[in-house]
Amino acid sequence: MLSSSDQQALLAWYDLQKRALPWRESDDPWAILLSEVVLQQTQVSRGEMLWQRMMDRFPTVAAMAAAPVDDVLKAWEGAGYYSRARRLHALAQTVMAPSSEGGHDGIVPETYDALLALPGIGPYTAAAVASIAFEQPVACVDGNIRRVMARLTAQRDPSTKEVQAWADASIQRERPGDWNQALMELGATVCTAKKVGCERCSLRHVCAGHGTPEAYPAPRASKVKAVVWTAIVEVACDGLPLLHQRPKGGLFGGLWGPTYLDGEHPLVDGQLQKGVVHHSLSHRAITVHVRSQESTKSMGTNPVEVALSVLDHKILRAVFGDNFFSDS
Ligand code: ADE
Repeated sequence: MLSSSDQQALLAWYDLQKRALPWRESDDPWAILLSEVVLQQTQVSRGEMLWQRMMDRFPTVAAMAAAPVDDVLKAWEGAGYYSRARRLHALAQTVMAPSSEGGHDGIVPETYDALLALPGIGPYTAAAVASIAFEQPVACVDGNIRRVMARLTAQRDPSTKEVQAWADASIQRERPGDWNQALMELGATVCTAKKVGCERCSLRHVCAGHGTPEAYPAPRASKVKAVVWTAIVEVACDGLPLLHQRPKGGLFGGLWGPTYLDGEHPLVDGQLQKGVVHHSLSHRAITVHVRSQESTKSMGTNPVEVALSVLDHKILRAVFGDNFFSDS
């Protein structure tokens, strides 16, 4: 738990040193909610671009609710974790629905509990939006805040419950949105995983981990699984690939792409070997053996008109060449 003078020291540092991020210029709850959904699994540097693209395309919750989900997926293209885009669309539709039908009459709700009930909103995002957009005194916990807490209290493996209890006890009640962002900012720019900047930290005098910050928290075992697939890209008579929309629940759900088979399959008659593509997701290291095969169908799918994963961009470039997307 932090004292009131520790809190003031951190807030003063935040006021002076915070990064100029575009959503910090806005008090529009939709802009803030969108930033927190974007930042759930995306680094700030890439998140800025994605947030701007989403805001340009869907400047209001009503604009997103009125758009087809495929337009939301197209705007999200390349950002990964596509289920986030589908849930964001469902969230927009829930917010726009009348309150008599369980919606919010077009107004982003203010309380932690009402935010938590929306599609795609977990405890972190509900607390971030409630505090930043509505100044509700609710503490959020993300990976950066966990690292700050683990070092301040010299704990190697604090549980989520312990980190949340510490954050709840430490919250600054006059400026809760800035407080949560100040802790995140400290974790992102000073109390970093590597090259820790203790000399720049306004909490170093009260930090139990000061001196050996890298010891806290202990690194977590990697959960990355290696997978091997074979992609069969069928090419129609018009020279375009036959793509299908992937089922909603699975990997790359709602996006378009060629067929994948599990494992490495032998090349069969009529197929051409087009190389091997590697792609990393947070939880998978994917190797894809790429094959092409002519189809008798007259028309394929124009890949510019549908949303594709980055992996499928790589696969189609392996088949059609590096200029395929710039030419189509
Ligand atoms: N990561 C998640 N939310 C953030 C925010 N509001 N500012 C900076 N980094 C963040």
